[in-house]
Amino acid sequence: MERYLPESVTVNQETFRVYLTHDEIQERIRMLGAKISEDYEGKRPIFIGVLNGAYIFLADLMRYVSIPCEVDFLKLSSYGAEKVSSGKVRDLKEVDANIKGRHIILVEDIVDTGLSIHYLYKKLEKFEPASIRVSTLLHKKEATRHDVQLHYTGFEIPNLFVLGYGLDYAQEGRNLAQIYILEGS
Ligand code: IMP
Repeated sequence: MERYLPESVTVNQETFRVYLTHDEIQERIRMLGAKISEDYEGKRPIFIGVLNGAYIFLADLMRYVSIPCEVDFLKLSSYGAEKVSSGKVRDLKEVDANIKGRHIILVEDIVDTGLSIHYLYKKLEKFEPASIRVSTLLHKKEATRHDVQLHYTGFEIPNLFVLGYGLDYAQEGRNLAQIYILEGS
């Protein structure tokens, strides 16, 4: 079975071209996994993935981690069918695990304005975990307005809309095995 790796793809009548290849993404995640394994030796961290977008990145990241670890998920409201953030965050699913005293690695697909991560950091802090660090595959640094600290970043990217590898446009494109960017941008 082949992975879904077209050169370009049309979603919602807009065309996207490859920006980060499958191999580039895997190599970077392998490095992040190795660093996390080293930093959390003996600590049994719990990865908390932010649904929906982070599930593919988190699945790959965890399989490059070579120490005991756990996983849980929470869900926030998304962009809807738009390419710009609504500027509001709403909880759609809470974490099930007891995270008091635990080492948390919060996992996002992309940090854009930083609103979601800022909100989640504040929210999880109240449960008194031992530590919270953030891993994001992508970071639109120029777009980030909220105060966020990112510890394990895959790639810094320009302030442009991207798609694939878990990231959607109006719920389409998550199954693409690499990252695509709007053509002409
Ligand atoms: P933030 O709260 O503005 O940092 O936005 C974070 C969320 O917005 C991410 O988890 C994504 O769901 C979504 N998002 C931001 N930029 C993009 C993009 O370029 N493509 C698809 N989704 C995006």
